[in-house]
This record gives sequence, structure tokens and C-alpha cells, in this order.
Amino acid sequence: QIRTSGKVLQSPCGPIVHGLEDVLIKNTTISDIDGEKGILWYRGYRIEDLAKFSNYEEVSFLVLYGRLPTRSELKEYERRLKSSRDLHPATVEVIRALAKAHPMFALEAAVAAEGAYDEDNQKLIEALRVGRYKAEEKELAYRIAEKLIAKLPTMVAYHYRFSKGLELVRPRDDLSHAANFLYMMFGKEPDPLAAKGIDLYLILHADHEVPASTFTAHVVVSTLSDLYSSVAAAIAALKGPLHGGANEMAVRNYLEIGDPSKAKELVEAATKPGGPKLMGVGHRVYKAYDPRARIFKEFSRDYVAKFGDPKNLFAVASAIEHEVLNNPYFQQRKLYPNVDFWSGIAFYYMGVPYEYFTPIFAVSRVVGWVAHILEYWENNRIFRPRACYAGPHDLQYIPIDQR
Ligand code: ACO
Repeated sequence: QIRTSGKVLQSPCGPIVHGLEDVLIKNTTISDIDGEKGILWYRGYRIEDLAKFSNYEEVSFLVLYGRLPTRSELKEYERRLKSSRDLHPATVEVIRALAKAHPMFALEAAVAAEGAYDEDNQKLIEALRVGRYKAEEKELAYRIAEKLIAKLPTMVAYHYRFSKGLELVRPRDDLSHAANFLYMMFGKEPDPLAAKGIDLYLILHADHEVPASTFTAHVVVSTLSDLYSSVAAAIAALKGPLHGGANEMAVRNYLEIGDPSKAKELVEAATKPGGPKLMGVGHRVYKAYDPRARIFKEFSRDYVAKFGDPKNLFAVASAIEHEVLNNPYFQQRKLYPNVDFWSGIAFYYMGVPYEYFTPIFAVSRVVGWVAHILEYWENNRIFRPRACYAGPHDLQYIPIDQR
């Protein structure tokens, strides 16, 4: 097990902030987290209100443009998203070639491929080469941002179709972002509760300040590389089990256990030195229950109330949560269920294979990534930290046949 080795590491050059904990990288107006109280705001709005009253189209506009849209702005924004859902033929071929790979690999490659063929991206790259980022380039950047939001669901759904050897289902522009995604995956209009679940999940994951994936996106664009490359890199960071990959791992655990009576054993194993971490539990910033997890738990409860819990996923997750909340190891470290703890259950019962849970996270978070990139470009400086060299100097080179 790769476990943490402390918040602050000592080095010959002085203390090292391990994992950049609490290091500030910029000012932001996109989202804010109160980790002690378990509160999350997007552009000043509480996540609970957005989950209750809004939808992903409106929330993504809010995250990207910094304010809620008027009715006509929203309509126009939705029209632009719908008209950008199709992919470049080269991207479709890339996805086809990676049909048997984990969809996160395919998504990374598909985003890079789409960027290579997007003419707006080429124009922006040319401008950035000479350091130009004025009104015209900003307009291009926002257009690209919207295209990325529009296209990621198509990439994920097409990968699913190819992986199953099925015909592609073209996007339909009379369906919402969430409903169209499920339609492209399964080839039929989704149950309204399933579409609502996807929409809710997309709202809850739209932004989260600067986790590893968003930070990665900053590092890439700080070199004046392009938005597609930056999003491909962010997808690579999201993929890991300590970040977005935890939703897949959590459901795999629930399936493996299969029985709530085995929850205690799993939780206790995670408290042992060198034991496996409990996926979907703990957070760098939240030292309280993750507000997104609270909302999605309620949805998961409603979903299994309507469609049943034949694999005991909700029952097992509830038993694990009970053990975690009452176990001194987790209490002392302020480790609570995070957003990934509950999110996969409804997906699994919708028929979404667990390999697609993290890609759906990317489908949502892409708006946060691009909003942060555009915010950073308003005051860009290349990221270039230092490492403390702790090895020897001036060793004598020994020819290979004398070693
Ligand atoms: N299971 C068991 N122990 C844990 C867990 C866990 N899930 N999470 C943290 N701990 C322990 C650590 O071992 C450490 O113990 P120690 O003080 O005895 O050494 C202590 O709690 C502090 O944990 P760190 O690893 O220092 O916390 P960090 O902030 O570096 O990591 C992280 C946060 C990666 C989320 C961690 O809690 C984890 O690995 N959780 C499981 C994976 C997961 O669910 N990730 C999704 C996060 S949410 C998201 O990305 C959408």
C-alpha cells in the first residue's frame, strides 16, 4: 500500500509541504469549500440550492461565465452545446481503436485528438505562441470551452457503444445534456429518474476548487499549451483511485462484499497499518461529511426505493458508512464518506458499467477545468516549483566495463 508519510517532510533545504496541502496557487471566484462545516458554493451559490432548483446546463453556464443566465442566454447556450455534440471523424476512429481499453484512456486520447483537429484551437495555439490573448482569443477560448463541455458525453457514450460492438447512437438535440448522454449510451430515451440522477451527479461534480486534476490543468495551461491538452492531462489525473477513480473502486468493494454483515471487516482492514484505504472515504479539504455525498445519498435512496437493490449495494454502503462513522480511527482523523462513496450505486443500477463512473465524473468536471484555465490565463505565470536535491554531487564517472 502506498500510504501518506506526513503533512510536512523535513529536507536539507527546509520543510516541504507534502502534497502542497493548504498551499494557495491563485485567487478564484469559481467555487469555495468550507471543509470544517462541509459547505460548497459555486460562484457564491450553495450546492444544495443548485441541486434542488437548477440543471447541468444552467450550472455549467454559471461556473463558466460567473453568473446565472437569463432565460434567453440559457436557451442560446443550450443551442450552442447541442450543435457541438458531434465529434471529428478522427476522434471517432481513436475511440474505436481503444474500444477494449479502459474508457479513461480512450477519453484522454479522444480529447487530444479532437484538439488536434479543431480549427479554433489551432488559431488559439498560433496566438498563444506569440503571447497574444486579447478579446478575439478570449472569445475563441470560451467557444472551445463550450465545445469541450458538449463533446465529452459523446466521447464516453461512443466508447461504450464500441466496447459492446454496438452501432453508434448519434446525439439528439431535443434532449437535455443528461438525457442525451444516456440516450447515446443505451439507444433509448432514459427513465426520467435516471436522467435526473445523471443531471444531479453532473451538477454536484461541476467544480471543486483545485483538486489534483484541476491543478494539473493549471500546470499545463500555464505553459500556454492549449485547452484540449490541458483537459486531457486533467483526465489523466482524475483517473487515479485517490481522486476520481475512487467511485469505481467503491462500487467494486460493495459488489465484492455483497453482504452488509461483512462491512465491519472491510472497515477494520482499512484501519490497520499497511491496510488498503477505504475507497470513497476521506478528503484533503473536508473534515466533515461531504455535502455532495449527502445529496447523492438521498438520491441513491430514492433510486433503490423505486428500482430495488438486488445486489445489496445501498445496503452494503449504508453498513460501511455506519461502521466508518462509529470507528475511532476514522473519527480521530475526521474521515467521512466523500462524494465517491454514494455516486456509483444508482449508475450501476442504470446499467452503466463501473468503468464508466469516472468518465462521467469528467463529463461534469470539464466545466470546472475550463473555467479555472480561463481564470488563470487572466493572470498567467508558468508553474515551476523546486525540489530539494538530497543525493550526492561530483561522483567520478566509471566506464561501463570497469563497474
Ligand atoms: N481509509 C483509511 N485511512 C485513510 C483514508 C481511507 N480512505 N483516507 C485517509 N486515511 C488516513 C491516512 O492513512 C492517514 O493516516 P495517518 O495519519 O495514520 O498516516 C490520515 O488518514 C490522513 O490521510 P492522508 O492520506 O494524509 O490524507 P490526504 O489528504 O493526503 O488524502 C485522500 C486525501 C486521497 C482523499 C484520502 O483520504 C484517500 O486516499 N481516500 C480514499 C480515496 C478516495 O476516496 N478518493 C476520493 C477523494 S474525493 C475526490 O477526489 C472526488
